Amino acid sequence: MKFLNISALILLLIFSTSLAVSAAEHDPDFDDFLECLGDELKNDTSFSDDVYTPNNSSYTSILRFSIQNLRFGTPSTPKPWLIITPQQESQIPPVIYCAKENGMEIRTRSGGHDYEGLSYVSKLPFLVLDLINFSQVTVDAEAKTAWVQSGATLGSLYYSIAENSQTLGFPAGVCPTIGVGGHFSGGGYGTMLRKYGLAADNVIDARIIDVNGKILNRETMGEDLFWAIRGGGGASFGVILAWKVQLVDVPEHVTVFTIARTLEQNATQLLHKWQYIAHQFDKDLFMRVLLSRMNSNQDGRNYTIQASFNSLFLGGIDRLLPIMQESFPELGLVREDCTEMSWIQSTLYFAGFPIDSREILLNRTQPSVRYFKAKSDYVQNPIPEYGLEGIWRLFYEAEANEAVLILSPYGGRMDEIPASSIPFPHRAGNLYKIQHLVYWEEAEAQNSDSYISWIRRLYSYMAPYVSKLPRAAYINYRDLDIGVNNDNGATSYPQASIWGFKYFKNNFDRLVRVKTIADPENFFKNDQSIPSLLSQWKN
Ligand code: FDA
Repeated sequence: MKFLNISALILLLIFSTSLAVSAAEHDPDFDDFLECLGDELKNDTSFSDDVYTPNNSSYTSILRFSIQNLRFGTPSTPKPWLIITPQQESQIPPVIYCAKENGMEIRTRSGGHDYEGLSYVSKLPFLVLDLINFSQVTVDAEAKTAWVQSGATLGSLYYSIAENSQTLGFPAGVCPTIGVGGHFSGGGYGTMLRKYGLAADNVIDARIIDVNGKILNRETMGEDLFWAIRGGGGASFGVILAWKVQLVDVPEHVTVFTIARTLEQNATQLLHKWQYIAHQFDKDLFMRVLLSRMNSNQDGRNYTIQASFNSLFLGGIDRLLPIMQESFPELGLVREDCTEMSWIQSTLYFAGFPIDSREILLNRTQPSVRYFKAKSDYVQNPIPEYGLEGIWRLFYEAEANEAVLILSPYGGRMDEIPASSIPFPHRAGNLYKIQHLVYWEEAEAQNSDSYISWIRRLYSYMAPYVSKLPRAAYINYRDLDIGVNNDNGATSYPQASIWGFKYFKNNFDRLVRVKTIADPENFFKNDQSIPSLLSQWKN
């Protein structure tokens, strides 16, 4: 596979007789689909309880339950023809088969956190395959591994690990309600990325249902497909059922602190310095920065900017203080700023919960779900102070009332893993990643465009200071502004390359090759799915 170039692959596929079988080319028929499903699952009497049409009284609550961005929960948002919440793996292949036969799209949803709602929104007739019932986590503390089903949340994974061991953890995201189905298949980073890399770097096996309805594991899917689903976005390749992950060692006590400084307290200078050192800290130290606007009446201004230095240290206070004193004395960290706790408590701390309320990690609902738009950037050279001051000016605009920039340092383990190890390519050479976020409230829903245009202005402003050619982006911070496929799915390689190289750099070509073999007819598609070379040729 590795030795095939793109044009050789096109030729191979065009002459392959096995590809004569094509997906339905007629308009989708809802009744035919249901009839097909009924036939396929006629011995499974309970399955009908897991199928929700818009006439079902639970349809709206099931749909809304996992919507994590209210921008895609409005009356005008396209809705699925039906939602299916399977209970067993064997129920999924018939759904794939009947959807293919009847020309319906499938959107697979695990936790529903996709920033552009791609797991539950489509312009074409579609159904949502909601894996909420696939939420089992099985930890083997002795082997330091766990199997986690796709619909499980990060919170439930962290909880289960902690129930089995005080000295094991897993390096994934900060928000406990995220589903592992989408998160691991897009990379997945959190407070331990400098020590252990991404969640996807620590996946050692997986179970997936392919476009032919076959259930495959690492051995049977082969290393190319196994490579692709660890960072290339699962939605292009099939329905991922579960992941096997390598758990990582954590000390019995870790240390956390958050130090907030305003402009009047030298936030600009501190942030400027942070850019030079945060990626070089000891691997045990992760110090991100959250930037936001605050009310102020100093210096005749209504606002100031606050930089919060928010840290996890995989060790005790006594080891942390000298490190900070040597590398970042300007921050003025003292013992009283620090708290020692267990790793599981630190996951609660970073999620903004009381640290002794571990059961909250099992809750699938976020305390507040809002309207938002996000974008991402990678910074490879420190932004000069005057560049930072330009960001502050944008923060003083009206739409930035609830805007946040989250700067997460790389370095450490991220520098050691080769860029082609998995599809996620953003490794050595990046100082930090920025997540640009703007939120707004229900009352402002009519003005969504003004908030979106604010974040686009910010993104334009950032251009000189961030990665170029391509201007890199993180697929788990999905952003349809950076390029999309055609609505009918027939997207050429050059068109998809516009967004594909931003997310995946040179790994995009290998993803296209894997896709062309795994799903040549491009059944699994969305606005930013990997194109199949055969499907674009045929269309
Ligand atoms: P969702 O179900 O929406 O799926 C996302 C994508 O994956 C969709 O395209 C979907 O079709 C596909 N997919 C889902 N399950 C699949 C399956 N089983 N098989 C095949 N395809 C599947 N990221 C991060 O790295 N670190 C962080 O700390 C955070 N924090 C964070 C906080 C909040 C509040 C949000 C809303 C998001 C984040 N994220 C994040 C981003 C998050 O990692 C990203 O949105 C993930 O894709 C979410 O996975 P879900 O399964 O929840 O989403």
